[in-house]
This record gives sequence, C-alpha cells and structure tokens, in this order.
Amino acid sequence: MAVDAQENSMDLPIIDLDIFRNKPRESPEVQSECLRAAKALISFGALVLHDSRVSEQDNDNFLDLLEDYFAQPEEELKKDERPELSYQIGVTLENTEKPKCAVDEPCLHVIERLAPSERPLDISAHSPDPKCRFFWRMVERPPYETQFPGLNAANIVPDAPHIKERWTPTMNQWGTSMKNAVEGLTEMAAVGLGLPAETFKDAGRYGPHLLAPTASDLNKYGEKDTILAGFHTDLNFLTIHGRSRYPGLHIWARNTGKRIGVKIPKGNYLLVQAGKQLEHMTGGLIKAGFHEVVVNEKTVEVINARKEQFPDRPLVRISSTFFWHLSSDYDLVPIPHVADQAKALRAEQFNLGKDEGEEVEYPPMKVGEQVQSELKHIALMA
Ligand SMILES: [Fe+2]
Repeated sequence: MAVDAQENSMDLPIIDLDIFRNKPRESPEVQSECLRAAKALISFGALVLHDSRVSEQDNDNFLDLLEDYFAQPEEELKKDERPELSYQIGVTLENTEKPKCAVDEPCLHVIERLAPSERPLDISAHSPDPKCRFFWRMVERPPYETQFPGLNAANIVPDAPHIKERWTPTMNQWGTSMKNAVEGLTEMAAVGLGLPAETFKDAGRYGPHLLAPTASDLNKYGEKDTILAGFHTDLNFLTIHGRSRYPGLHIWARNTGKRIGVKIPKGNYLLVQAGKQLEHMTGGLIKAGFHEVVVNEKTVEVINARKEQFPDRPLVRISSTFFWHLSSDYDLVPIPHVADQAKALRAEQFNLGKDEGEEVEYPPMKVGEQVQSELKHIALMA
C-alpha cells in the first residue's frame, strides 16, 4: 500500500502557550485557549504548540550533535548500552524495540477499524524497528525514597572527544526548552478540562522524563515504504517533538480515523502527542495517539536534496523527542469527573455510529507499574 497516495492535508490545531504565559489566568483569551488545547487533545490526541521561548538554533545544534553521535561505529555506540536497566538510559541500537501493536490484540483491532487507505504500513511481520535511540534523563530527584529506582538511573555521557564536550550542554539546552513547553501545556490542558492548573504538572514533578532522540540510518533504510517506527502509542503522559529534518511522521486522529502527515511550521513550534498515562488519568477522555514513522515520498525528496546540499553530513534521520512522564510513585487513577465526561463522549460517538472498540478498563496502579508492564510488551524488559 502506498503511504503517500493521499497525504491528509488536514492541519492540527495550533495552541499558543504565549497567551497562557503572558495574559491573566482568568482572562477570556487564556480560558478559551486552554479549552482549545483540551479539545485538540480529545479530538486529535495531538496538537502543534507555539512557544516563543523555543529557539530553532537550539534544535539545529541538537540535530547536528545527534547526527554526529549516531554516525559513529557500532562498537563505540555499544559502550553506551545498558540492557540491565531495560535500556531506560543510554543507547538502544537498531532492531531491539518491537512495535507493541504487532503483538497486541486491541491494537490490531484499531488497524482493522481504519479504512484500508488510511492504515499504517503493515507491521505484522513482527520485526523490531530499524531505529536507534538515546535516552537522556531530565529529572528532579524526589524528596522521598522511590519504589522504582531502576527507572531513575544516572545519565551516560558518550566518550568520543568530538562529542563529549558539547553533549551535556546541548542536550540540556534543547531538553529544557521542550520540557518547559510541555509542562506549560499540561497546565493549559488541566485548565481546559476544568481542573486546577497544576494537577498534571505536580503529578509529574519527579517523573523520569527523557530526552529521547531516535536515529534512522537513511543509507540503509532510506527506501520508500520502509518502516522506521511501526504503528504504536507512547506509554508516557505527553510526548513533545521538535522539527525533524526529514518528514515521515504520521499520526491518526481519533475522530476522523485519517492518517495525517505531520508538518511542524518553522520557528517556535513543537508537536505534542498524548500518551497512555494521560489516557489513564482522564479515563479515556483523551486517548493516546497512534503514530508511525516511515519513509514516504517526501522523505525521499529530502534525502535526495540533503545528499546534494550537505554531502559531508551523515545521512541520519534524527527525531527530537521528549517523553514527559508522571512520577513513578504516583497513583494512577482516572479523575472521576473527567472519567464521567469520557463515558458521555463514548456514548455520543457510539450514537454517531463510530465504533471505538471494546471499553477499556483503567485499574488503579502506580505509574511505575504501568511503565514496567508496557516495557514488557515492547521487548525492552525481560
Ligand atoms: Fe512513539
């Protein structure tokens, strides 16, 4: 199936964090922008976030650094692997992580319910993703003893001289921009859902947040219709992305079932997607958003253009991703009045003839338990 046959041109809502940061909290502009943010997450599971503090130059420095890092020989990268910590720190080499959906029944049913023209590339062959990744924690130490110390291990700085020096400042600079932006959005979403602004931010204060760039070697995996990351949802609360140099990220909006080719405008814009922890906490009012990364026709165009323009640069697709998590020791329970809205919305969808599949249970658990159970599914934890 051709992925680019009909790229959906529908644009995601653009939410302005500047309005929230600069105007009085009770002002109609702030209240309506927060409502738009919540609605975007409910309808699309995703939105484009504008934050004037975000600098394109910081993203560029970050992408340059990560291209250099992943262009190193495999034996150099292997030094940064920590399988004993379930790869939750340092590097994960290609063909380790399996798309959960390939082995997960409810997820396969999600694909079945999509129109054939809107389905993701076929992941049923079960092969792990051909992508590498680096996990860089950006956390605040909790003032209490955590039940989940394995998820809170120390960072690894790569050893190569041309990388070592600029690693920590570059990772922290870009990571902090994305962390600040996504934390601002957690406040907007809370207000939009009728909750105190700090509800989610406080619940994630000591979360094992990760700056998690992924890398795909486009010399090896640059052929059209190659799956770089198979159809899946993210296990954390919200995922935020900077602009990648190569297109290829597709997302699925809950309300339309259409595949959307993501375009992040140039400048101070980021893409945010809902993850499983947000779904759990809202009792399914906001659903974790499905996505895939593939080589589509536009990816191939950019590969060819960059080969000409930057013949000396590594041909690596870096996705600049930040996973914002709830604190591991936090009790993950749906918020009652939000869960009631979720039930009402589900009934409404049903009456409109939209089949959202089996009703999902959200049993109470620690966030750390939820993360561990998700990691088992994607073959990162024994
Ligand atoms: Fe993802």
